[in-house]
Amino acid sequence: MRKVSVRLRRDSVIGETDPRLFGAFVEHLGRCVYGGIYEPGHKTADKHGFRGDVLKLVRELAPTVMRYPGGNFVSGYNWEDGVGPAKDRPRRLDLAWMSTETNQFGTNEFIDWCRLANIEPMLAVNLGTRGGDAARNMVEYCNHPEGTAYSDLRRKHGWKKPHDVKLWCLGNEVDGWWQMEMKTATEYGRIATEAAKMMKWIDPTIELAACGSSGRNMPSFGQWEDTVLQHTFQHVEYVSLHTYINNYTGDAPAMLAAPDLMDSFIEEVVAICDSVAARLHSPKRIHLSFDEWNVWYRTRRNRQERVKPGWPVAPKILEEIYTMEDALAFGGACISLLNHADRVKIACLAQLVNVIAPIMTATGGPAWRQTIFYPFAQMSNFGRGRVLRAEIDSPTYAASYFDPRGATDLYFPLPEVPYLKLAAVEQADGGVTLFALNRNLKEPMSLQIDLQGFGALDMREALQLRNGNLKATNTRKQPDKVKPTALKGMKIGAGRLQAVLAPASWNMIRLGKASGAT
Ligand code: AHR
Repeated sequence: MRKVSVRLRRDSVIGETDPRLFGAFVEHLGRCVYGGIYEPGHKTADKHGFRGDVLKLVRELAPTVMRYPGGNFVSGYNWEDGVGPAKDRPRRLDLAWMSTETNQFGTNEFIDWCRLANIEPMLAVNLGTRGGDAARNMVEYCNHPEGTAYSDLRRKHGWKKPHDVKLWCLGNEVDGWWQMEMKTATEYGRIATEAAKMMKWIDPTIELAACGSSGRNMPSFGQWEDTVLQHTFQHVEYVSLHTYINNYTGDAPAMLAAPDLMDSFIEEVVAICDSVAARLHSPKRIHLSFDEWNVWYRTRRNRQERVKPGWPVAPKILEEIYTMEDALAFGGACISLLNHADRVKIACLAQLVNVIAPIMTATGGPAWRQTIFYPFAQMSNFGRGRVLRAEIDSPTYAASYFDPRGATDLYFPLPEVPYLKLAAVEQADGGVTLFALNRNLKEPMSLQIDLQGFGALDMREALQLRNGNLKATNTRKQPDKVKPTALKGMKIGAGRLQAVLAPASWNMIRLGKASGAT
């Protein structure tokens, strides 16, 4: 059995988690909106058509922020199509996903759904086919109280109070050839700056995220961020990052190592942000919005899984069925985000329902949890607080991770991958939650954690997610095949925790202040 030791000191802190670190994403894509969060006529739907069974699972998942309406979709979206009487809304061809958009669900419905789910909305404006003018009008429609054409239009549509949306994305993945009206970094930097200026002139309280690269594997990565930030630096609070972990090569150890590349990606983007700040002699710090992250590959490169012929409405596309193995890589990504809480302030799991999602539904039928649901729900419910800097002494392995972009074969070497990946968070009540991934597929891990300066802690809950079959999935017929079970045999006392983590397992251990402890 491999021995791993960890030291946690109460005064050694990475940063405080921002509540917006635990977000997700709803795009007009496949069955995410239609048949996902919205299905009038479903037996659990309310008067708005919002599915009650999905809402119940969303509350359990506990995302804090929801990005909308895209994604690639937003680069061709006319926000005006989605407001006003539903019967008058146009049907349009959506060139992002080669489907028909009925516009029966739009901005106002989304805001209502967010309020019901107790989630903060994060709206994206179209900086593909449109620009600053449409963006400023949308801010006026959403956030201006009354007495102007767009604010009064919102009131006429039935929403008297402003939506008061604070978070806005300046377009989406504008560096990608797959985008409607892709742009160079300079073109985008200029358009984003002008849109940002006008949006903030209307509502100076909003916060803006500029598009970073659509992946670390983009040839223009680095140069893109640098140029975009030179233009937008004074006008934005965040730059975006996107990552989808894959296992195209069937190499599980490499897939489980991939979250370490998210760590590198974050640290590289932070370096670029700070280098632009230095050149501008500015004390301002741009923060990171990791507003798309997940595992996604089976339904990614295969065109049949992405596009259905005949311009269907809400086609069954990108419906990735997640395995135990995926949940492990996904858990690793959760740990990467937590361990960069000092600079990653917003993160959005892409996406929420049906489309590369933790929640699946059958149209007209039930909803259930995919394997990736659990690490996210645990992180969101118990991962808030001060993230501690863990000193980890773990054996390592070497891996080379395949992450192609287009026809290019890209292998990223990872020479030192510790078998243990871990995040530790101290909550406001003095409790400590540990998230621990054992990346060794064959051997259990003997884990010893020294806890210094926390006072007496006792065990509150210990759960593991594991399945001997790494390809195990949850399905409509077997929705609970992969779910957390009790992690047994732990010892805690005298500032030391000892546990044995099963091979290929994700674990959450919650410690609380022992009664009487100060
Ligand atoms: O989340 C699916 C798609 O992935 C999004 O629409 C796009 O932004 C990214 O390429």
